[in-house]
Amino acid sequence: MRILILGGGGFIGLKLAKALAERGTLRGDTITHLCLADVTGTEAIDAPFPVTAESLDIANRDAVDTLMGKGWDAIFHLAAVVSGQAEADFVSGLRANFFGTLNLFESARANGRKPVIVYSSSVAAYGGEVPQPIEDWTNTNPQTSYGSQKVIGELLLNDYSRRGFFDGRGVRLPTVVVRPGKPNAAASSFFSSIIREPLQGEPAMCPVDPEATKGWLTSPRAVVENLLRSAEIDAETLGQNRCFNLPGITVTVAEMIEALGRKGGKEALDLIDYEINTAVEKIVSGWAVDFKPAKALALGMQADTDFDSIVQQFIDDELA
Ligand SMILES: NC(=O)c1ccc[n+]([C@@H]2O[C@H](COP(=O)([O-])OP(=O)(O)OC[C@H]3O[C@@H](n4cnc5c(N)ncnc54)[C@H](O)[C@@H]3O)[C@@H](O)[C@H]2O)c1
Repeated sequence: MRILILGGGGFIGLKLAKALAERGTLRGDTITHLCLADVTGTEAIDAPFPVTAESLDIANRDAVDTLMGKGWDAIFHLAAVVSGQAEADFVSGLRANFFGTLNLFESARANGRKPVIVYSSSVAAYGGEVPQPIEDWTNTNPQTSYGSQKVIGELLLNDYSRRGFFDGRGVRLPTVVVRPGKPNAAASSFFSSIIREPLQGEPAMCPVDPEATKGWLTSPRAVVENLLRSAEIDAETLGQNRCFNLPGITVTVAEMIEALGRKGGKEALDLIDYEINTAVEKIVSGWAVDFKPAKALALGMQADTDFDSIVQQFIDDELA
């Protein structure tokens, strides 16, 4: 089993790579090679099989063709210009998220190996006037360029899979918290910052009204497990739409801050400042937060139990 992670230098890509290294198998087959491809560098991974790194701009079709020519049985497509950046810089989002995804799908079609492709879509696929709760079949109605680019990828994935060019699965990720490292260009970045920074004795800014703002959230461990499960399931179980919502939990920012207080005490709470950023608030308030991820649950995928356990996971995995 030869596996490729596009966006393998990113937050989820690296966590997924480490999980694959621990397991050693996917879809019942022993992993013989893992490749982490990214436009930026990737970390070295300890694994019982060879792990290689490729520097690649997914918007460059020739580079994608060369990489695809190396032959992959399963591909996790996580490469993306994230929400805030794609909104601020339309062309860079369009290049990576639309043309990059099209390049991968077209290259897979030309290549003929018919790999399993797990495509990371997003909660940003929904917004505007949609019924609540959101079900897997609810009409996508993105309110950002990033969300629109993700939804276009979903449509292509369904059609390329229907035609038998590859075996695709598209999963709409909730916002993944707590992200380690530094804030990123995602509009959702503050969901992690308000927990991560105070737990490390650093100040954080909350750019939204805590009582009025909710998130549809998942932990890194849960999302990695659900991405792996998405690759494992049989295509027949997906029905006529291969794109579905991953499980998450709905939490207000105020509840997140209360959980921070239970783990980090008053010192942590005192490190949060509050100043509304209307651009961030506008993007985040356009995202849906009330979901019924029936397909994922029926396929054995799971959500976190509560937000306290997500904070504890960050402490155990990143600060220990
Ligand atoms: N983290 C979340 O909360 C979240 C939520 C919903 C969806 N997603 C999706 O999950 C995927 C992974 O997210 P993440 O949090 O790990 O993001 P990330 O930014 O940490 O990783 C994405 C990676 O893609 C790479 N990339 C960007 N443009 C590229 C290009 N042109 N060619 C090759 N690589 C390129 C980046 O360098 C980065 O390493 C993304 O597709 C994202 O849209 C993430």
